Amino acid sequence: PTTRELFFNITTAAASPDGYARQVYVVNGQLPGPLIEANTGDTIIVHVDNQLDEGQSLHWHGIFQNGSAYMDGVPGVTQCPIPPGGTFTYKFTVANQYGTYWWHSHYGNTLADGLVGPLVVHSVDEPLRRNRDYDEDRVLMISDWIHDQSSVVVEGLRAGTFRGDLPPQGDSILINGIGRTNCSAVPSGTSCDYLPPPEIQVSANKTIRFRVINTSAHSMLRLSIDSHDMEVIEADGTAVYGPTTHEIPIAPAQRYSILVNTTQGQAGDAYWLRTNTALACMPAGHVQTALAVFRYTSGMDSETSTRDPETQAWDDLAGSDAKCRDLDQMYAVAPRDGKAAVNDALQTHFLSSSRGKFVNINGVSFFGFGFDNVSFQNQIYKPLLSDIESGTTLNSSLIRSITFDGIGVGNIVVNNLDANIDHPYHLHGNDFQIIARGNGTLTQEGLKGVSLHLANPLRRDTLWIPGGGYAILRYTTDNPGVWALHCHIGWHLAEGKLAAVVVRPEAIRSFPQPADWSNLCANTNASQFGPA
Ligand code: C2O
Repeated sequence: PTTRELFFNITTAAASPDGYARQVYVVNGQLPGPLIEANTGDTIIVHVDNQLDEGQSLHWHGIFQNGSAYMDGVPGVTQCPIPPGGTFTYKFTVANQYGTYWWHSHYGNTLADGLVGPLVVHSVDEPLRRNRDYDEDRVLMISDWIHDQSSVVVEGLRAGTFRGDLPPQGDSILINGIGRTNCSAVPSGTSCDYLPPPEIQVSANKTIRFRVINTSAHSMLRLSIDSHDMEVIEADGTAVYGPTTHEIPIAPAQRYSILVNTTQGQAGDAYWLRTNTALACMPAGHVQTALAVFRYTSGMDSETSTRDPETQAWDDLAGSDAKCRDLDQMYAVAPRDGKAAVNDALQTHFLSSSRGKFVNINGVSFFGFGFDNVSFQNQIYKPLLSDIESGTTLNSSLIRSITFDGIGVGNIVVNNLDANIDHPYHLHGNDFQIIARGNGTLTQEGLKGVSLHLANPLRRDTLWIPGGGYAILRYTTDNPGVWALHCHIGWHLAEGKLAAVVVRPEAIRSFPQPADWSNLCANTNASQFGPA
């Protein structure tokens, strides 16, 4: 194992990723941000210099932070924000994990301003797999993109003034950071160019692993490549036996590795790679589509053609709008390293996810999102981790929390009571096995009648639960900490849809606090920061 040390300078910049010029947030001038690559067992050190005029924090999505809960990067939960002009060093070891992850801002919804990047952890036996199963390993980031600064959107949503109070669907979709917005729809007098579609160049007769990451602030996306099958081999860091499929649906924050064989064409041929918001998940009129050119080249520039493809979408995808479902609801997806779920869970906790109630955050009162009618509020961002360490009971009007004591397995039953609103739920600090999912609401009584999928259930860290549905998440309480469980639609998170899963509070009390971590809180004061 080695140490990977990186320096992240966060600044503003002007950019037009989809042709429309706006202010964005960048790391080291890059949009999307830099790739972090490591091997299992490595230690990652990231020195963050926040040169913005609002607070900031970075989260390493999917990394368990076993023994390093302080480094999880969630303001109000595991740290105070890095103040404007401040610095902080994240340091953690990626033990026993490999696969496709990503990093992003966890402050407000400033990931929608550009603070996202891939984080790839290679396994020990990956060189072997790579030669045997695929020839190339690439990252494919897809994301919705909105033209307004996230702080403007969040404030507008709270005041009920943002675009007629519609949940913001995004103005375009970016593929590896590039998109093309409809310039006729932007406000007059603003600068907008219709850009050429992004290109993905491949050579013939290869098998390419694409690590697909949906870094959207809002959208469930569907991804397909005309005439090319995809085989799913990884879901959120779990190696899987997956389907061969014409498309994958991917919720915000989820990752899939897919294998694509470039055996359909030869140098000069081109196909459309398509990604669009899933119609059934969107109010009518809000479907976005983005195209990239999937171009076969021989690797010599002079032979690269610039013609647009003339290919058609797979027949079975055209007009299909019923795919607002998670991949595991459409196909059997099972982990390669089979792990039966333990039959008896130590403890079961229920979380009901619904609109919250009228809350007041930073002086604005609005109807929030939440769990069990509590919208997460932490007006001065004092982290819950500090409360747990000092033995203070969490204030149940500010945060819905559940506590697991003892080492073993626990169940979290998530009931999504938002009848028409689907949510991608993400658990920090661990992955979970999906041992049941369905329609309706589960009660303690109802639980007895549910048939559990225990043989080799899919493990992942982000799960799409349709409105009016439920899922039972089973996980092991082997990682003490205070872990966020939240909707990964950033606008819902910003409106309070976050609960705390407290794992073994006794063990947390013995954690040593890194010095610069406690310094972060020394001068924390709500007025310094933008919308939480
Ligand atoms: Cu991707 Cu709470 O994070």
